[in-house]
Amino acid sequence: MKCLALTILVASSLALAACERQTTGSDAGTPVGPPATTTATPAPEPLLVTARQLFTVIPDTPPELPGNAATPEKVALGKMLYFDPRLAASHAISCSSCHNLGLGGTDNEETSIGHRWQRGTRNAPTVLNAVFNTAQFWDGRAADLEAQAGGPMVNPVEMASPEVHVPEQLRGIPGYRDAFARAFPGEADAVTLANAQKALAVFEASLLTPNAPFDRYLKGDASALSAHEKTGLSTFIDKGCIRCHNGINIGGGMYAKFGVFASPGAALLPPGDKGRFTVTKVDSDAYSFKVPTLRNITLTAPYFHTGTVWDLRQAVAVMGDAQLGSTLTDAEIDALTAFMGSLTGTQPVVTLPILPPSVATTPRPAP
Ligand code: HEC
Ligand code: HEC
Repeated sequence: MKCLALTILVASSLALAACERQTTGSDAGTPVGPPATTTATPAPEPLLVTARQLFTVIPDTPPELPGNAATPEKVALGKMLYFDPRLAASHAISCSSCHNLGLGGTDNEETSIGHRWQRGTRNAPTVLNAVFNTAQFWDGRAADLEAQAGGPMVNPVEMASPEVHVPEQLRGIPGYRDAFARAFPGEADAVTLANAQKALAVFEASLLTPNAPFDRYLKGDASALSAHEKTGLSTFIDKGCIRCHNGINIGGGMYAKFGVFASPGAALLPPGDKGRFTVTKVDSDAYSFKVPTLRNITLTAPYFHTGTVWDLRQAVAVMGDAQLGSTLTDAEIDALTAFMGSLTGTQPVVTLPILPPSVATTPRPAP
């Protein structure tokens, strides 16, 4: 009954709208009322027109992953795996240890602490919006999230579980057998590392941060950015930051040498890590890294693949000298940093999953 009333209400207001349009239409040619310019939507400001050619809005819903449909059961399994420290040899480290969703999808460490307190050599990038990166890792060695997810569990300095141990561990937890069966119906033995990777990927694809002030601006809300943030956006475009940081993730779409114009120095660019070269063995890729996303950048300090710079203003200054060959003024750095503050979106609300309990026969943690 209520629904019907609502339908009628909606229908009649639509009819009214149509009716109004018709009236206006029939009056066409008779100049009545205020001039049309005051009622028409104002043309978007030139800055917005340019910005729309360079950047795309983060959607509210996850993109589909090819060959890996996101059923609710699979996303739920992926979430469990993301938070389950029993995937690590020590049973003490989960994806969430280094990609904490309360900390912008990072660990806020220079380099992450992994198995037996070992430090990796690179800073942990955020998982938020990572689905939109052209490839994963600083050197792009994993094509996508699914391929990436196989890395950390078996990496000796991260979670340090030998490859065969991951499915063994999961099969040893009865609740996982059911969860995998529900997520991968029809598979005789669904508890595999490959399926764990698929489930993790669909969960990660759901970790989006839409609705940043900058996205509201791109959608047409001219007041979503302050005057200072707009100056920063203009500077970002005019100075040429957009050559590398563009597209949906304002980065994540290409590789670039760190130190195009001047070396940032050995602390920021240690000679031992040749970046993309490690993957391609092409000389011109030496010291190239995936251009990082600048979305949620105020949440993800410290910066650069070494994680050695804690102050965003300093990171911006380094970019001016190293990537643009132009020493930025304090005012430019301030404006660019303000613009970067407008790139923080709504953080995903993730309820902690209740994990299936271990039983007496579940493999025990290795020290
Ligand atoms: C011990 C810390 C640690 C753990 C545990 C860990 N990661 Fe990472 N993660 C990192 C580091 C460090 C990198 C960057 C390594 C590189 O580029 O060589 C990274 C990179 C990534 C990336 C690539 C992001 C990008 O933009 O390139 C994704 C996605 C990711 N991890 C997801 C996961 C998932 C899923 C898990 C759990 C299965 C996980 N990580 C466990 C530290 C960790
Ligand atoms: C030639 C390509 C290029 C240009 C131009 C460029 N960047 Fe970068 N930017 C990169 C690369 C590559 C990195 C990663 C460097 C590393 O750690 O290896 C990076 C890193 C950053 C970081 C640190 C991000 C993080 O999560 O660690 C910030 C902030 C940044 N850039 C901002 C800017 C700004 C602002 C400008 C313009 C003043 C700019 N960039 C111009 C390629 C570029």
